[in-house]
Amino acid sequence: MLLDAFEWLLTPPGQQLLRIAGEAWADHDGDPVRAAAAVRRTEPDADRAAAALTQVQLRQRAVAKFGDDAALMYFTPDGLEQATRARVAAHRAARLAAAQPASVIDLGCGIGGDLVAMAREELVVAGIDTDPVRAAVARANLDALGLTGAVQVADATAIDLGGFAVTFCDPARRGARGRVFDVEGWVPPWSFVTALLAGAAVVKVAPGIPHDLLPEGVEAEWVSERGEVKEAALWSSYLATCRRRATVIGAGGLATVTEEDDPYDGAERPVRALGDFLHEPDGAVIRAGLVTAVAGIVDGGLLDPQIAYVTTDVAVRTPLARGYRVDEVLPYREKQLKAALRERGIGRLTIKKRGVDIVPEHLRQRLALRGDNEATLVLTRADGHGVAVLVTPLQ
Ligand SMILES: C[S@@+](CC[C@H](N)C(=O)[O-])C[C@H]1O[C@@H](n2cnc3c(N)ncnc32)[C@H](O)[C@@H]1O
Repeated sequence: MLLDAFEWLLTPPGQQLLRIAGEAWADHDGDPVRAAAAVRRTEPDADRAAAALTQVQLRQRAVAKFGDDAALMYFTPDGLEQATRARVAAHRAARLAAAQPASVIDLGCGIGGDLVAMAREELVVAGIDTDPVRAAVARANLDALGLTGAVQVADATAIDLGGFAVTFCDPARRGARGRVFDVEGWVPPWSFVTALLAGAAVVKVAPGIPHDLLPEGVEAEWVSERGEVKEAALWSSYLATCRRRATVIGAGGLATVTEEDDPYDGAERPVRALGDFLHEPDGAVIRAGLVTAVAGIVDGGLLDPQIAYVTTDVAVRTPLARGYRVDEVLPYREKQLKAALRERGIGRLTIKKRGVDIVPEHLRQRLALRGDNEATLVLTRADGHGVAVLVTPLQ
């Protein structure tokens, strides 16, 4: 998107065109060619017409990340892709606000996903980005949502950060050829990030960050939303409250657990035989290495010291894990398993596996399922042996 066209979109005639583009999009059932033709009848300037229609499309796509705010906000395609989801950003911003910093600078604010969340917490915020269009979009988003903050085009690696109490940085991890896994390939790179973490800083990183890369004294917080691990946030020692934390954001709210909740941290892992219930810890819990914390919370044990399944005798519920009732243990050997599933008339099967070398899709084909019943099968290891367990998800 061109900067001139975007800035024009914020003027009264631009806003009028945005409304027309929204109506054209709806009238033509989201057909981009017919909607574009309708917009061009009002606005002959191709760049302006494209800017308006692009916003309409991006706002629609952004609902998944920004909910109702999406209808008021502005985006670029990449900026939306890279933006932090609103609930995740709101959680981080609330944590930051609790530390009561005098000010926060967002280094590489993009379209302002985090910036908006921090401003909403009434933090004194400034955002910078090297990309002038994204900086303009971030500024427009603060305005559109009635929030206060400053945004400038600047290079994070070249400015004086002395005037800010806390720095926040969310390095770009996507290059021209997709996701960048090498931390030195991030922009700004890992060496810049580690230097920030020596002061009061929060850095958003990929959830796959290896534990051995984490600098001394830093808290790593893995965050999931609705069952998907979205990111890890590194809190420098000035803001850290533990070493490892898993935060699980679900439909019902937020749950968090740290190594301080883990009675087995640094101790032998609690292994036991399969009970009447099985619990599959959330991905954030697994990434944070806090499966035994969940075992402690539900008063359960692990089926295997290295596998993330917790078992209990009672039906405990926790937002930190998905619970299942154990219905039956079936034979693990494929031929007998196939016969057992046939006997039970199971025609539709969800296969969950951990710690065993099985490709569920291939196995499902070989099992040649037949019948009207539906079931969930867990394939894993217990006491060094493969086990197959029929389970029912707890509601
Ligand atoms: C992952 S995005 C940030 C997304 C943002 N947190 C959000 O929620 O919308 C990273 C941003 O950093 C910017 N960036 C990369 N290197 C930079 C640098 N040296 N100085 C300032 N911004 C930079 C990129 O242009 C990009 O917009």
